[in-house]
Amino acid sequence: MAKGEIVAGFIAPHPPHLVYGENPKQNEPRSQGGWEQLRWAYEKVRESIEELKPDVLLVHSPHWNTQLGHHFLGVPHLTGKSVDPIFPNLFRYTYDLTVDVELAELACKYARELGLVSKLMTNPRFRVDYGTITSLHLARPQWDIPVVGLSANNSPYYLTTEEGFAEMDLLGKATRRAIIESGRRAVLLCSATMSHRHFQEEPALPEDMAQEHPYSMEMYKWDMRLIEMMRAGRISEVHKLLPEFVEIAFAEFKAGSFTWMFAAMDYPELPGELLGFGNVIGTGNAVFKWDLTKHGLATPASQWSNRQPHAIPSPAFASSPSATPAYGASLYSGQGPSIGARPVRS
Ligand SMILES: [Fe+2]
Repeated sequence: MAKGEIVAGFIAPHPPHLVYGENPKQNEPRSQGGWEQLRWAYEKVRESIEELKPDVLLVHSPHWNTQLGHHFLGVPHLTGKSVDPIFPNLFRYTYDLTVDVELAELACKYARELGLVSKLMTNPRFRVDYGTITSLHLARPQWDIPVVGLSANNSPYYLTTEEGFAEMDLLGKATRRAIIESGRRAVLLCSATMSHRHFQEEPALPEDMAQEHPYSMEMYKWDMRLIEMMRAGRISEVHKLLPEFVEIAFAEFKAGSFTWMFAAMDYPELPGELLGFGNVIGTGNAVFKWDLTKHGLATPASQWSNRQPHAIPSPAFASSPSATPAYGASLYSGQGPSIGARPVRS
């Protein structure tokens, strides 16, 4: 079988507000709209996925928390209602999704081989978390492409951020190996918000855009600083800065989705395409695309059936080509949005 490829990775944040603002038939609450800039950004994601024609969408969600190990959706067909526990007034979504169990099994197996505690989730009545559902709906509302869902192990919370990221690096490597071996054409979704400090009270009308703005100038500047780096392709710098960003901005990247995605893509030092940015109840949300087919690192859809083995070169690195980002070097160990933050050496 010809080798599989990761053809693109997206930062695909999951504020349920974006689904609420769209009013799809699957979601019960009705809105007057809102957060259009981000929803228009997702229109571009949808167009890209249509062009990329992937066999599978893989999503790593901070809201499928698994205390012990890294879990993978492992049931061929899952249906149910996903409710955001923080915003049940905005998100009560009836889903119906197909899982690529074969690929999930492979990724789970390779994660174990790399020393990660890993498990296939085989409960047919499992309720899929709202982070997974929101990112998938916003990226592909037709639900006609099989998915692989990965949990967010709590390792960055009970270990240091850097140790947690090191686990996510391994999880990404296992994911990459599984995709290559499976022969699949895969798109990755990093389901995460950037700065994650948010307002404590919701406006009476949640979609009242007169109330929406960055949480603070400091959070806004941090988001812009990282976005500029990503737009310029200074990805290794982004990884070096991540622990500090997590510490200061409570960035949801702490849960590992960003590190997982870049490890799976083999850390391409490439400019990302910013599709849009917006604040949601004060948090900073960027929708980004790294289309590897545009950089000669993956096969365009039009050539997929005629692809040659070993035709795709390894990504270029700005420095230290064989090195994983040096997460252990940072002074910080942010505890992230759930449980506050602390310096490592207090
Ligand atoms: Fe979240």
